[in-house]
Amino acid sequence: MERTLIIVKPDGVQRGLIGEVIARLERRGLKVVGLKMMQISRELAEQHYGVHRERPFFASLVEYITSAPVVVGVLEGPKAIEVTRATVGATNPVDAAPGTIRGDFGLTIGRNLIHASDGAESAEHEINLFFRPEELISYERAVDPWIVEE
Ligand code: GTP
Ligand code: MG
Repeated sequence: MERTLIIVKPDGVQRGLIGEVIARLERRGLKVVGLKMMQISRELAEQHYGVHRERPFFASLVEYITSAPVVVGVLEGPKAIEVTRATVGATNPVDAAPGTIRGDFGLTIGRNLIHASDGAESAEHEINLFFRPEELISYERAVDPWIVEE
């Protein structure tokens, strides 16, 4: 089953939206298989957002993501990466559809509440950056057959 990484960013935590953000993804049917609170170090932030190193917003992005605690999670489900990105909405909340997390809670691109992996390769890379294998739990839920047909 596919897995993806999410981060409730510092603004999401400060605004009291940890539960709201995770609840939306849980309600979708995705299974939480890893979850923890942490403060991201500069080094980890630069690794995580390494693809954006040359972009003009890189310094402010690292500043933002390291500025206060975050909640990091791994979600599992069929097409988990695509489904999570769709539930999160467009990068810029101005463009994010109402009903998406960024479209319902965000206003500006520099405070867009949540990160979600954008592909299979980045998901694997990011999960390994943030979690040790033993921190991820494989388990069955009684409701699983009511969410995903056998
Ligand atoms: P993530 O899930 O956080 O990776 O967002 P994304 O995949 O929707 O967007 P992308 O990876 O392109 O950009 C990473 C993050 O950098 C975004 O979520 C924004 O917080 C920030 N960002 C991207 N573009 C801009 C920009 O033009 N200006 C500013 N200030 N921040 C930006
Ligand atoms: Mg991204």
